[in-house]
Amino acid sequence: MNRRDFLTRSSAAVLAVSLSPNLSPLAAAEPAAAATPVSLTYPFALEPLPYAYNALEPHIDEATMKLHHDKHHLAYITNLNAALKDHPELHTLTVEQLLRKLADLPPTIQTAVRNHGGGHLNHRFFWHIMRAPGVEGAGAEPKGELAAAIVAEWGSVEKMKTAFNDAATKVFGSGWAFIEADVKTKKLSIATKPNQDSELFSADRVGLLACDVWEHAYYLNYQNRRADYLKAWWNVVAWDVVARNYAAAKA
Ligand SMILES: [Fe+2]
Repeated sequence: MNRRDFLTRSSAAVLAVSLSPNLSPLAAAEPAAAATPVSLTYPFALEPLPYAYNALEPHIDEATMKLHHDKHHLAYITNLNAALKDHPELHTLTVEQLLRKLADLPPTIQTAVRNHGGGHLNHRFFWHIMRAPGVEGAGAEPKGELAAAIVAEWGSVEKMKTAFNDAATKVFGSGWAFIEADVKTKKLSIATKPNQDSELFSADRVGLLACDVWEHAYYLNYQNRRADYLKAWWNVVAWDVVARNYAAAKA
């Protein structure tokens, strides 16, 4: 079984038991938020958050989460579906598959799929690597193999956070910061992307963690203080999910 088959099959199993939304190796750590099947292909649909809108307070406020999930994420899905509407030959593809073959898509929809497909993929991942602070270790330190890999790369968890925050702060305008693992070496690295470009569909790297640094992710509470948002954001990182993503980073 190659890696893509593994991811597809394992994700299908995950979906069956937990409604976890990812075909990338996001682990099935969250409780099912609803009993509604989620489509992984066209028409894409907005999955409920896996926790209450106010669950991430005081670090991320309820109003931000409502707007971010119910309006911004929904808009990406709506626009992605609109772009694909007249292309039935693409309706069996997951968002990861669409993004992988972006250059082969009809030119008239490439930009829409890049922006809105990427937006859907990034946000779907983002909701699930956060959890209410203190619940099942959210906000605590990473452990085990993941912690060892972080220390090997950056010297300490704190130094990793400093490097990540520095990179995320420097994203000009809107974008994302990621921690990813090479599937062959399992070596960790930090990556940033502009707009809704994603690191979550690569064939040779697995995204472990992603932070949204669009202003819509923090402006109501933090205004222009992205650095304060980033500092607070670590308090809601679900390290057990990140660790399972790392464990899945195998060629
Ligand atoms: Fe966002």
